[in-house]
Amino acid sequence: ETPADSHDPFALVGLTYDDVLLLPGETDVIPSEADTATRLSRGIEISAPVVSAAMDTVTEAPMAIAMARQGGIGILHRNLSIEDQVRQVDKVKRSESGMISDPVTITPDATLKDLDDLCAHYRVSGLPVVDAEKTLLGIITNRDIRFVPAEDYLTTKVYEKMTAQPLITARDGIASEEVIRLFSEHRVEKLPLVDDAGRLTGLITVKDFDKADKYPQATKDAEGRLRVGAAVGFFGEGFDRAMSLVEAGVDTLVVDTANGHTRGVLDMIAKLKAEPAAAGVDVIGGQAATRRGAQALVDAGADAIKVGVGPGSICTTRVVAGVGVPQITAIHESAKAARPAGVPLIADGGLQHPGDIGKALVAGADSVMLGSLLAGAAESPGDLVFSNGKQFKAYRGMGSMGAMQTRGKNTSYSKDRYFQADVPEDEELIPEGVEGRVPYRGPLSAVLHQLVGGLRQTMFYVGAHTVDELKAHSSFVRITPAGLKESHPHDISMTVEAPNYQR
Ligand code: XMP
Repeated sequence: ETPADSHDPFALVGLTYDDVLLLPGETDVIPSEADTATRLSRGIEISAPVVSAAMDTVTEAPMAIAMARQGGIGILHRNLSIEDQVRQVDKVKRSESGMISDPVTITPDATLKDLDDLCAHYRVSGLPVVDAEKTLLGIITNRDIRFVPAEDYLTTKVYEKMTAQPLITARDGIASEEVIRLFSEHRVEKLPLVDDAGRLTGLITVKDFDKADKYPQATKDAEGRLRVGAAVGFFGEGFDRAMSLVEAGVDTLVVDTANGHTRGVLDMIAKLKAEPAAAGVDVIGGQAATRRGAQALVDAGADAIKVGVGPGSICTTRVVAGVGVPQITAIHESAKAARPAGVPLIADGGLQHPGDIGKALVAGADSVMLGSLLAGAAESPGDLVFSNGKQFKAYRGMGSMGAMQTRGKNTSYSKDRYFQADVPEDEELIPEGVEGRVPYRGPLSAVLHQLVGGLRQTMFYVGAHTVDELKAHSSFVRITPAGLKESHPHDISMTVEAPNYQR
């Protein structure tokens, strides 16, 4: 029995990030050495507890790639067709890997135009050339076609320009020292892997080797590919979408709705967990904001639970519907169900400052999902907008009119997140979000450096070497509006913009 379950309407006090601070403690932690690794879900570890939101102004492939490289993970939004979302997963999974087990290939009689299109789509510099039996015939890269005029692309065939066998190749399972030796000795950039019959079984590229060096913290699967999540609905084509994403290699599916305490969502989670084809793909469920809501998601078999009803910077759920739980309390209540079951919590929405990450973890979360704090990064979808000499990027709620309306598109996939799939006319929609813009913040690496750097400072102040220690040993002090005022800069007009503080 928690106050939330009692009949006393005022027994539960709702606190949020600004209502609390963490108590400093004895410490020997050096911020740069604090270990920020945590679990996203039962089966996925991340080295930084940050997840990018499944929103159409936050996470498409470039954001997901950048998030995974920095040790977090991105959740691809679902306000697009199944085919387009699958393509996004494919882009992330192919962006870098130790060994590409299913490389994109081209046939010898394809044209250079086909080659150019494929290379542009997958952002690669060349492709192995194979016949219908997958026998490796050659390799073709930018270097081979450098002097072919663009007007000849449609009439020139790949076999005319490829580097044909014999090529430098290797067998599956080759040791990495041997790979490095082959790359440096033969000055090649791509190493195709072949079986006894000469059929292509994989590809190793020099670029991937360099990236592994550059991003040692990256979130990767067992094959060395970046990990990625994708949002699905529980309604209509939701299950088919999920299966297509699984086939494309998605690492986790997020059953993404504004209220997870409902039969349709719980059944969808249970169905995905029971699906043999989805074995090994973690299923995340949401949203929860109470112990009972979280318990229902635990019972349905969720591998992680997303917490937050209405805290988001673009959300109007709490004012339109009058429903929600301030986020520190929502996390604390949800943890009462999730923690005994060993199910990680993702605190979703409402974080405004780096210090909110540590607060979310201490309240009971294992990671945080961020929308507005990441929407201004270079890797978010959409162009830069200039206004009064300043740069911005668009940011909107998935329950906003713009995201839910069908006008100008075949359909909206966002309506069912807010249980309004049955509403036929845009004019009849009840939006639960707003549309706007946030300041441009530069590359995601710089944004995350400040956010995760803030968490490292948290860990130093409270004396936590690891996230587990942070969660186990820290405690809060409740503060008053005067305390909050004291926390922010005061009695000064700021003349220099700080990289990690915006009013
Ligand atoms: P922040 O505060 O990080 O919040 O910008 C991002 C989270 O907000 C949720 N979300 C919405 N909630 N109406 C809502 O009530 C909306 O239109 C909306 N769009 C996104 C979502 O959980 C996201 O991760």
